[in-house]
Parts: sequence; structure tokens; C-alpha cells
Amino acid sequence: MTTPALEVAAVSRRFGGLLAVDGVTFSIAQGGLSALIGPNGAGKTTLFNAITNLFPPTSGEVRFMGRSLTGLDARRIAGLGLIRTFQTARVFPGMTVLENALAGAHMHVGATALAQMFRLPGARAEERALRDKAGALLDLIGLSAFRDAAATDLPMGAQKNLEVVRALMANPRMLLLDEPAAGLNDSETADLAALLTAIRDIGVTIMVVEHNMSLVMGIADQVIVLDAGKLVAIGAPADIQADRRVIEAYVGLED
Ligand SMILES: Nc1ncnc2c1ncn2[C@@H]1O[C@H](COP(=O)(O)OP(=O)(O)OP(=O)(O)O)[C@@H](O)[C@H]1O
Ligand SMILES: [Mg+2]
Repeated sequence: MTTPALEVAAVSRRFGGLLAVDGVTFSIAQGGLSALIGPNGAGKTTLFNAITNLFPPTSGEVRFMGRSLTGLDARRIAGLGLIRTFQTARVFPGMTVLENALAGAHMHVGATALAQMFRLPGARAEERALRDKAGALLDLIGLSAFRDAAATDLPMGAQKNLEVVRALMANPRMLLLDEPAAGLNDSETADLAALLTAIRDIGVTIMVVEHNMSLVMGIADQVIVLDAGKLVAIGAPADIQADRRVIEAYVGLED
């Protein structure tokens, strides 16, 4: 049996008197694309924060590719190839779209800082390869016309897509995406869906928080449902759609 990409074992996260994530257990297979859904305040972002140790679990354990993440800081976790994005786009101000994309690769550049400083041939070739990769990804997501624009001048939806590109530039083995489609129009959402399936097809495991059910049901192979911090259902998209508890969890959302 292959090691799962991500194992979340009895993870809880408490904030004072609030158990925002309550004893959640699940795993995600390598190469899988899982959607994490649930009403506002269900604990989806808190679960991402617990997985990446931004707000570490108050109990339970997370393993990535079989390795415990307990005690590792966020930067170290990113170094292992577990890369997340934030619900509110965080592009770097004062940098262009292309520079923002390239920033995602910086901690993974093989050539030494010294070689880069003196523009040695190895570093130059590497930088060129990175620029080509960033250009291709920006093209895929429809942002290549804006590569030299200030990132903060982009509409919010485009900033969210740029964050996905920046995450991809970090050579992730797994991506945690927090509502990447929020604020995107229909055609931007379709571009994002195509990009996510393309990423999955090259072997990157994905876990995505998403409210857009047609996006979720169209691309996910597993759906995880949280409500009030608890895992209430997990399964294939079709099974989840037929599950009464899931419909109940969303009744409040529809009102
Ligand atoms: N840093 C924090 N300090 C205190 N409470 C927090 C903190 N982060 C989240 N919470 C609380 O934990 C609960 C879950 O919040 P969380 O942001 O994880 O929900 P969510 O499922 O991501 O919701 P949304 O769909 O609105 O993004 C909420 O009651 C929230 O107020
Ligand atoms: Mg959230």
C-alpha cells in the first residue's frame, strides 16, 4: 500500500472556549484531488492552519508523506513540498505579476545565493527556466497580458489566481487551496478548474476549500464535509450529494 500524501489523525484546534476543529480524522491519497466543504465557520480554514502549524493542533497529529509535522514551523513544512494559499489573496505589493510568481520559487532555487549574485552561468540558466515556467503558468491561467503590471492592481479574482501560480512555482508535492474560486467569474472559474485538473494530472495532490458545488463535484475525487468543527461526511462526490447530513449542513447556508 502506498503512503497517503496527507493523514489527519484526531486533530482538534481550540481557541479559548471554542473547539473550532473537533477530532477530525481522514487521509488523502497521493495524486488525489479532495474538496473540503462546509458552511461558514465550519472550521475549514482552521483545519488548514492546523495542518500547516500556523495555529498548530491542540491535539492530534498530521503526517505528510508518512512524516509527522508535529513541531515543524510553516517554512519547514513548505520546504517538504506542502504549500498552501490563503482565503484572502496575499500578493506581494511593490512587485509585478511575474515577480510575484517568481517569488514562489525562490526558496527552492538550487543555485546558491552567491552564484545568483554574480550571475554565474548555472544561475542564469536556472533563472531563465523559472521565468519560462512562470510565463507558461501565467499563460495557462490567462494572466500573461498582465505579467509586468503591479500585482496589487489586478482585480481580486486575478490576484487569487496569481497566488495559485505562485504556489505552483514552489514545486509543491501537495497544494492546500483556501477558496481559490471566491470572487472569480464563470470563465475565470473554468480556467481555474482546468488548471487544477492539469496540476493533479502531473501528480500533485490537491486539497481545496470550495463553496462552488459545480466546481467541487466536477473535479474532486473525494469530498470531505465539515460542520461545526466535526467531520460529518467523506466520500465520492455523487455519494456526498445524496447524503442527508450534507444537505442538512448546508440548509443554514441556503437560507
Ligand atoms: N485565530 C482565531 N482565533 C479565534 N477564533 C478563531 C480563529 N480562527 C478561527 N476562529 C473561529 O473558528 C471557527 C471556524 O473558523 P474558520 O475560519 O476555520 O471557518 P471556515 O470554515 O473557514 O469559514 P469560512 O467559510 O467563512 O471561511 C469560527 O467560529 C472562527 O470565528
Ligand atoms: Mg475559511
